[in-house]
Amino acid sequence: MSKRGSFEEREGLLTASDQYDPFDDPFDKELTIQPDDEDAWPRSKIVKTATGFIFLLIFGAFARVLLRSTPPSHPNLSFNGDYIRSNGTHDFRRTVLIVSIDGLRADYLDRGLTPHLLEISKRGLRAKSMVPIFPTLTFPNHWALMTGLHAESHGIIANNFWDPQSELEFHYNQISSAWNPDFWLGDPMWETANKAGIITANLMWPGPPRTKSGSSPSYFVPWKDKVPLSVKLHQLLTWIDLSFNERPQLLMAYEPSLDQAGHLTGPMSLLVNKTLAQVDLFAAALHDSLADRNLTDIVDVVFVSDHGMTDTSHPTLIYVDDDDMLGEQGLNAVVHEDGWPAMGLRFNSIQNESYYLEKLLTSKHPHSEGFNVYTKETMPPRWHFAHHDRISPVWIVPKIGYALTTRKEGDVGMNKGNHGYDNSEHSMHAMFVAHGPFSAVVKDLHRSSFAAWLPWKNKGWHSTSDDTYVMDSFPNVEIYGLVAKLLGMENHASHNNGTKGFWDKYF
Ligand SMILES: *[C@@H]1O[C@H](CO)[C@@H](O)[C@H](O)[C@H]1NC(C)=O
Ligand SMILES: *[C@@H]1O[C@H](CO)[C@@H](O)[C@H](O)[C@H]1NC(C)=O
Ligand SMILES: *[C@@H]1O[C@H](CO)[C@@H](O)[C@H](O)[C@H]1NC(C)=O
Ligand SMILES: *[C@@H]1O[C@H](CO)[C@@H](O)[C@H](O)[C@H]1NC(C)=O
Ligand SMILES: *[C@@H]1O[C@H](CO)[C@@H](O)[C@H](O)[C@H]1NC(C)=O
Ligand SMILES: *[C@@H]1O[C@H](CO)[C@@H](O)[C@H](O)[C@H]1NC(C)=O
Ligand SMILES: [Zn+2]
Repeated sequence: MSKRGSFEEREGLLTASDQYDPFDDPFDKELTIQPDDEDAWPRSKIVKTATGFIFLLIFGAFARVLLRSTPPSHPNLSFNGDYIRSNGTHDFRRTVLIVSIDGLRADYLDRGLTPHLLEISKRGLRAKSMVPIFPTLTFPNHWALMTGLHAESHGIIANNFWDPQSELEFHYNQISSAWNPDFWLGDPMWETANKAGIITANLMWPGPPRTKSGSSPSYFVPWKDKVPLSVKLHQLLTWIDLSFNERPQLLMAYEPSLDQAGHLTGPMSLLVNKTLAQVDLFAAALHDSLADRNLTDIVDVVFVSDHGMTDTSHPTLIYVDDDDMLGEQGLNAVVHEDGWPAMGLRFNSIQNESYYLEKLLTSKHPHSEGFNVYTKETMPPRWHFAHHDRISPVWIVPKIGYALTTRKEGDVGMNKGNHGYDNSEHSMHAMFVAHGPFSAVVKDLHRSSFAAWLPWKNKGWHSTSDDTYVMDSFPNVEIYGLVAKLLGMENHASHNNGTKGFWDKYF
């Protein structure tokens, strides 16, 4: 019997039940955020912007450049991982807080529903988007963010797959497999930090509590569904408020509610919009809590997501057990089926593998435009999804708008929203927003070089009309290198798939 994607799998990560009600979250009742609080967002900026606008009218864009030519003053360029800085009352080492909002599609930030994240990015940094690895799924991408590796190198090649070496099945939702360190290859940034003697704290980041080499985060809160954002915020601040010798310098946190909403009701739904507004309030509360502690020049906060979300409420169904695909016999010859919504296939024999591969490749399917059939040899090289024996020999990869299924299963249990498709699709792209000493330095460097009339120095940058500096889209495997640089632990960093020197120009 073949192992067709279970109902639970199709429900998406960390199944959202019907009772799930993100509005019933004490978080929004506890918040005291005033969006237009002038103390939070200084009025000097308003004056600057107004002046800039007049100059812009008179002299065009260059006047605005000149206006900003004052050299950087406030951020301290040499605030590296080892240095100690006081927030006025307490000593701190440089600290990085990385927060993943699962399923926050890059262009969700343009909905007008995330004023605080945008305000944070205005004072810090934002990328047009962050490109996830393929497959654009939660576990592969959270591990890519942690390790800087593509799936073929970090081993988490899907949310569910079979490992031919151990002959074990990995399933993200079963602790027996998801916490088995042997599945997780590469060094996560908390392991790198451990090597550098840096204290770390992990609040539910998808991954194991311990790696193969026996490394664990110093503080670890295991995954639990439906933990209110207020509780997560409180935990993060409790860590920040620890004494100097106990305080973590690298904090990682994970929030799934937006992804759950996207799966349940689709990316354009009211539930997504409301959940989006909630995570925006969380971002604001986190930022304000750090500002209250005079820590905005000490703690870098990096908001990321793992992938986007696309509407899948009316997919064209591709039945793999139809004769113009595998046929029923072909499906019976499948012994392991990996991944979702793509399908990795292992057959009961080499003969059947080549027979059914040929059948798929020569199929005259009426919707052949809706999917691709790949082997490890023909897989698009840009996916870096071939060189691992966990990647099964035959893959059917649907395009957006199409779904693989069987006659028996039809569209039962399918989500209104999903991800996992080609990582070049914009709807699969993730977000990157950063704020803190890192982003302030980057911005000032950008400004001063801009003012020096050296436009080629600013490749990959856009200055939008509202003074937000937007980086070009970049791959999420660069995040490992960023955190290593911020914490001054590059000497301990492992080989990874980030670009050498990618962040150098920003430091
Ligand atoms: C920057 O910070 C380092 C360490 O905190 C300190 O030694 C140095 O004097 C500072 N430089 C400036 C220009 O403030
Ligand atoms: C806030 O922190 C900065 C260093 O980042 C320090 O120079 C300043 O004195 C602090 N302000 C207060 C009010 O303690
Ligand atoms: C959610 O927000 C988007 C973008 O603003 C909008 O197009 C969509 O109609 C909203 N959905 C609902 C159900 O209000
Ligand atoms: C500095 O940080 C500590 C620990 O979070 C906090 O208790 C203290 O109030 C902060 N100091 C200032 C001046 O905000
Ligand atoms: C191919 O698969 C079918 C269906 O499972 C099986 O009956 C048959 O023995 C297989 N052929 C070979 C050569 O393994
Ligand atoms: C990614 O990094 C790993 C570890 O260094 C390496 O083995 C692999 O070849 C790299 N992949 C690519 C595409 O460079
Ligand atoms: Zn996800």
